[in-house]
Amino acid sequence: MTTNTTKLLPIWQDETSGIVKVIDQRKLPHDFVVLELNSVDDIIMAIREMVVRGAPLIGQTAAYGVYIAALACTSNRDFDEDGFTSNCNRIKAARPTAVNLAWAVDRVATRVRGEHNSAAKVAIAQKEAVAIARYEADNCRKIGEHGLTLIAEIARRKSGEPVNILTHCNAGWLACGEYGTATAPIYLAAENGIDVHVWVDETRPLNQGSRLTAWELGRSGVPHTVITDNAGGHLMQHGRVDLVIVGTDRTTYTGDVANKIGTYLKALAAHDNGVPFYVALPSTTFDWTLRDGAREIPIEERDADEVRMVQGLKGGKTLSVMVPPAESPAGNYAFDVTPARLVTGFITERGICKATEADILKLFPEKTSAPS
Ligand code: MRU
Repeated sequence: MTTNTTKLLPIWQDETSGIVKVIDQRKLPHDFVVLELNSVDDIIMAIREMVVRGAPLIGQTAAYGVYIAALACTSNRDFDEDGFTSNCNRIKAARPTAVNLAWAVDRVATRVRGEHNSAAKVAIAQKEAVAIARYEADNCRKIGEHGLTLIAEIARRKSGEPVNILTHCNAGWLACGEYGTATAPIYLAAENGIDVHVWVDETRPLNQGSRLTAWELGRSGVPHTVITDNAGGHLMQHGRVDLVIVGTDRTTYTGDVANKIGTYLKALAAHDNGVPFYVALPSTTFDWTLRDGAREIPIEERDADEVRMVQGLKGGKTLSVMVPPAESPAGNYAFDVTPARLVTGFITERGICKATEADILKLFPEKTSAPS
């Protein structure tokens, strides 16, 4: 993403040292810190502690993790003597919900196993990690081009009045690379001179909306307003939301969508108010093995302190403060599942489709072997 003349990526490999570097998203928006990831443990920490987050970026980081795991191996023929497979499995277990994690690890590890000496294994791992990052960036751009048609149509209907789009969490370039997924149609609309305004759900508990999406949109000059997580229904009731676009961490081939906690409630409110509710995703976020999202998608439960504590800036310093009584227990369900019947459609790199098994498989016919 080009913002304020600086081309930023959420993950990259240093051209001279080869070291994998990431933006530490825990520190945004008030501090901009770059972290080096030098070991498999660093990769796992970065994914688990949400230095990096968002399904496509978790996949890209995991792919570099497999490259780092390969680099650490010295046995020429059998990488498993050096723990290659167990390291890949450890990376896969870093977080449970985003399906891109296992997809990326398996894709890179399979290519590594197909090579016969250490140098070739390391080289193919690096090539695949770079290819995955490029592939996701390309997917984002295509999602943007397809999603732009929806926004352009609403702008036409409103005779150029601003198109109000609500989004939840951060499915922007920080979470994906390039234009992001949910934000890609928005960035392209802005680039094409369409008047857009974004309602940014703050997205408790970690505030990926108010910290990350607001920061991204602000740097790109896209008009936006941060709102509380509970404001969306009210705004929809009063005709102030034309379209909802969210991302997803895992979507079944039948159209059920796991996304950041609170997404389901937005979908219910959108349904009740006749507001179109779209989910933007690359094909790497479809789970081609799961049928019933609510029963089968693993929902991460994170540390309760993420709910109890709130982080913010005071007197130039980032502080963390406790909100509820110190003795009150808290629950931290990180994702929920929006059933396909509440989803108007999917914006994918291959086009827009309805949230039905038949329509999804029409766009991705090579997946028709999905179990029924
Ligand atoms: O817990 P996170 O921040 O990794 O959550 C993932 C997300 O960023 C969102 O759920 C997002 O909307 C989908 S991933 C592009």
